[in-house]
Amino acid sequence: MQEEISLKPFNSFGLEISANELIEVHRAEDLPEILEQSKDTQTLILGGGTNILFTQNFAGKVLKMCTRGMEIVEETVTSVLIEVQAGEIWHDLVMWSIQKDLGGLENLALIPGSVGAAPIQNIGAYGVEQAQCFHSCTVWDRKEHTFQNISKQDCDFGYRNSIFKSTHKNRYIICSVRYRLQKKPHQLELSYGGLAKVVSQSSPTIRDVAQAVIQIRESKLPNPEELGNAGSFFKNPIITEKELGAIQKTYPEIPTYPNTTGKVKVPAAWLIDTLGWKGYRKGDAGVHKNQALVLVNHGKARGYEIQQLSEAIQKDVLDHFGISLIPEVNIL
Ligand code: EPU
Repeated sequence: MQEEISLKPFNSFGLEISANELIEVHRAEDLPEILEQSKDTQTLILGGGTNILFTQNFAGKVLKMCTRGMEIVEETVTSVLIEVQAGEIWHDLVMWSIQKDLGGLENLALIPGSVGAAPIQNIGAYGVEQAQCFHSCTVWDRKEHTFQNISKQDCDFGYRNSIFKSTHKNRYIICSVRYRLQKKPHQLELSYGGLAKVVSQSSPTIRDVAQAVIQIRESKLPNPEELGNAGSFFKNPIITEKELGAIQKTYPEIPTYPNTTGKVKVPAAWLIDTLGWKGYRKGDAGVHKNQALVLVNHGKARGYEIQQLSEAIQKDVLDHFGISLIPEVNIL
């Protein structure tokens, strides 16, 4: 019988859960053999563990991607193509790109998690998604047993979505990602509420933008090292104009995000906040005091308690607004 391994340091909710085994993957080339040896066991690929809620112990092997490396692989007059290994920390990549004066990722500063996980849910913040710079990625295909390159088009990126969490869930293991970044002059994206106000310089640089994003995030979002959480727990729902109109009769102040699809994205945080959940706490499971979209572990919460809280919020939002909230976090 193998000893149980604690996954507490590997999940940002800081939950006391365990797995049968934890294997660190330091070279993508080792994946085929590791997976072959694990073929009779349930396996879970873990990046930063920043977007996952374990509701019970994991009866299987956890493969933690620990591969490292960021390099420029191609250069043109206006841009460069970089290749980054899956185990790199996302924020380190953002700071590396800023140090090299390469634009494109600055709005995505301080997003927790690993580079290999970024395309899966197409991370985004402050008006930018990783898809905008994404070029392609190298994956291990668990069905065909080969390494493959997947182009941006084939990833089918959408709002917090891609083939890696929808049509091809669990099929591919992302080994490295290539991004195309811009040389100077940089095009900045400052249109997202609040960002332009914080970037006070008259001709801001990508470093100024990243610093402003860091400042905003630090003021609103809890640091997982101090208070267990996984960022936004739900996606912002996309509703019809008719559904919006019905809500506006009672709540004319409901904020909306601009959308080109004819539908409207509304902030889940506002829906949850309006129903009075902000700062709510039951035992050690709670809703963050500054951001109603972030569920937190005040210390010794169990995964199922956070799940029960999320379900209570979903029910309340559905009963009151007729909107189904979809979790952004992976619930296991
Ligand atoms: N709001 C409230 N109550 C709150 C918090 C916010 O009413 O407690 C309102 C605000 O007034 C604002 C609106 O909700 O009008 C939007 O809030 P915010 O700008 O904080 O962003 P969000 O929609 O809650 C999204 C992303 C975040 C990303 C920010 C900034 C999703 C699910 N979340 O949050 O991403 O950092 O925008 O771009 O799309 C994540 O994915 O984990 C994440 C943190």
